[in-house]
Formats: sequence, C-alpha cells, structure tokens
Amino acid sequence: MANLLVTGGAGFIGSNFVHYWLRQHPEDRVINLDLLTYAGNLENLKAVETNPQYKFVQADICERPAIEAIFTNEKIDRVVHFAAESHVDRSITGPEAFVKTNVMGTFVLLDVARNTWGARKDVRFLHVSTDEVYGSLQPTDPAFTEENPYRPNSPYSASKASSDHLVRSYFHTYGMPVVTTNCSNNYGPYQFPEKLIPLVFSNAMDNKPLPVYGKGANIRDWLYVEDHCSGIEAVLQKGKLGETYNIGGCNEWKNIDIVHCICDYIDSFSGEAKSKRELITYVKDRPGHDFRYAIDASKIERELGWKPSVQFEEGIRRTIDWYRSNDEWLQRVRNQSYREYYQKQYKD
Ligand code: NAD
Ligand code: TYD
Repeated sequence: MANLLVTGGAGFIGSNFVHYWLRQHPEDRVINLDLLTYAGNLENLKAVETNPQYKFVQADICERPAIEAIFTNEKIDRVVHFAAESHVDRSITGPEAFVKTNVMGTFVLLDVARNTWGARKDVRFLHVSTDEVYGSLQPTDPAFTEENPYRPNSPYSASKASSDHLVRSYFHTYGMPVVTTNCSNNYGPYQFPEKLIPLVFSNAMDNKPLPVYGKGANIRDWLYVEDHCSGIEAVLQKGKLGETYNIGGCNEWKNIDIVHCICDYIDSFSGEAKSKRELITYVKDRPGHDFRYAIDASKIERELGWKPSVQFEEGIRRTIDWYRSNDEWLQRVRNQSYREYYQKQYKD
C-alpha cells in the first residue's frame, strides 16, 4: 500500500490519472495537491471525492512549508508530479508564471522529497514532462528518442526542460530515486478548451470560427490520455531509476486533418445542412511555432512492455462523445476569465 502524492491532480491529465490510479490500485491512498489555477477543476473529481482512499489538498508547489507538511502528515512515499503551467500560447504572453511553477515548483518538490526521504530506497518520484523539450522536427527527421539533445523553443518547453534537468541532477548528485517521462500531445475527457481539440469542438458546436494557426500544416503525435496514465504506471512501477522514458502514440497528424476529423464527426450527428468545415479560419501563426513533434516510444515498449491501446479514430470519438454528454462542464469552464483569455488570444 502506497501513499501517492499526485500534484496537479485537478488538471486534465492529473484528474484522469487520479481516476485511473484509484481504479487500478484501490489499496493505495491518493493525495491530490493542486493550487486550482484557471486549469484546475474539482468538478473533474466528483466521482472520487467521497472515496476514503482519496484526499484533496489545495496548495502551491512553490510554497515549501505547505509541501513539507503534506510529505510529513501524509507519509508520502510516491510522487507523480503533473502540476505545471501547460499552455504554450500563455507562455508566450506571460512566461513568468511558467518559470515560477515549472522550475521553482519542481525544485521545491524535489528538495522537500530529498529532505524528508533521506537515503530511503523504497520511495519514488516520477516527473511528468513533455516531448516539446526536444524542439522541432522537419518532415523527414526520425522521431525523438531519449538520446535527442534538448532544444526547447517556447518559454513553456524551456521551463519544462529546466525542470527535467533539475530532476536529473537530483539523481546524479543525491541519488534520489527519480524517473522522468516525456510524452507527446494528449487528448481525452477533461481537457481545458484552450487546447486544440476541445477548442475546435466547442467552437464548432457554437458555430464559431475554428482558428487554425498558419497553414494548419504543423504536426503533432497524439496519445489518448488513458494510455498516458498506463505509461506512467509502467514507469513508476518498473522504470529504471535515473532514466527517462518517451511515451507517445505513434500517431502523427497535421493540425488541419485533426480539425477536419472533428468537423466530420460532428457533421455525422448534428443534422445541420452546412458542414462544420466551413467554419475553419486560418489565423496568424503562433510565434516560434514548432513544426513537428514525433515520439519514438520503442524504449518503454522494449523495457517495460508498454504500448498505446486506443486507436485515434476510437479515441477522438470517445473524446467528442464525452464533451457532448458533459456540456455543463464545458459551459462552466468557459467562464468570464476564459472569455477574456479567448478575446485577447484570438483578437486578430
Ligand atoms: P493542466 O494545465 O490541465 O493542469 C495543470 C494542473 O496543475 C492544474 O490543475 C493546475 O491547477 C495545477 N497547478 C498549476 N500551478 C500549480 C502550482 N503552482 N501548485 C499546484 N498546482 C498547480 O495540464 P495538463 O495538460 O494536465 O498537463 C499536466 C502535466 O503533463 C504538465 O506537467 C505538462 O507539462 C505535462 N504534459 C502535458 C501534455 C498535454 O498534452 N497536455 C503532454 C505531455 C506532458
Ligand atoms: P495545443 O493544443 O496548444 O498543444 P501544443 O502547442 O502543446 O502542441 O496545439 C496543438 C497544435 O494546434 C499546435 O500546432 C498549435 C495548433 N493550434 C491551432 O492551430 N489553433 C489553436 O487555436 C490552438 C489552440 C492550437
């Protein structure tokens, strides 16, 4: 039985992970530590809030005394660290929060874990990171392996790269039992509608323009969120200490093709005469927009036996069906502060 600290468990991937873990490991206690920024939402956790094995604590990962108290009071012996500022566009307009949370926050967590755990070997810290730390690929480049040099291009990816380096240093310098995962783009239930897939779905349902950056030719490698959760589980349980593991879907799509796919699925049930494709609007490109990400996940498959299990066509339908049946969730998160963000981000 473990006392598992999940940071950022009220966000998109974190809340999917909390559900996943309590289902797969009902004997473990899960302590969800989240600041509840704009991206954190306790509604995502309604179904587990009365589970005696689950506890929520509102705290900032940058606040050392609060983190120390959680480690001591809850006897934490596993950490899965999701908490972060996660949206590239917001990192372009406001990079400071990314340095604070992603770099300083990760540092505080690592340092409190080191001080609390000392030389214990029965503990583990898993740091959740992104493929964006490797930079951008050209169309014919091979996919990122764990050996690729770090070449982050956005303040978001630079702050995640810094946090990865801190994690690495705590292994090499202090022998802390850490592992890092670098995952490709996730999609699925509970994703905040600032990200491409839920944004396109929600705008399409409202017959609003579907903003596609540049020519829509940029490529991402998409993984269904539950497959990310099972990848993290494999690395937490069987990963080699001090190592990094790429997690990805082997599922590359051009942005415009993803948008077409969402439009066509909505057309199949909306009963409207006009196709949602007519709402597609090409807008100004993101500054420094990485052209392509692709993950080579052969290490985690070879060493830990992990493989994605959800095909994209199935995953995207499941995702859209989830948003269709959770319209109230979507309406509530698109609140005043979301509308202000949207106005500013898409004004020209
Ligand atoms: P998200 O933005 O949906 O959730 C982040 C959560 O962290 C929110 O609940 C927020 O309230 C919390 N948080 C933010 N600052 C905090 C702080 N200072 N203290 C405590 N909690 C804080 O993000 P996500 O998409 O679920 O991503 C989770 C993690 O996975 C991030 O580390 C991200 O870099 C990584 N990742 C995401 C993707 C993706 O496609 N979304 C892909 C690979 C890796
Ligand atoms: P996003 O979901 O923000 O993830 P990331 O930038 O971390 O990959 O964006 C996915 C892709 O979609 C990326 O190439 C940018 C593009 N995009 C648009 O074309 N329009 C949009 O409104 C958004 C949010 C993203």
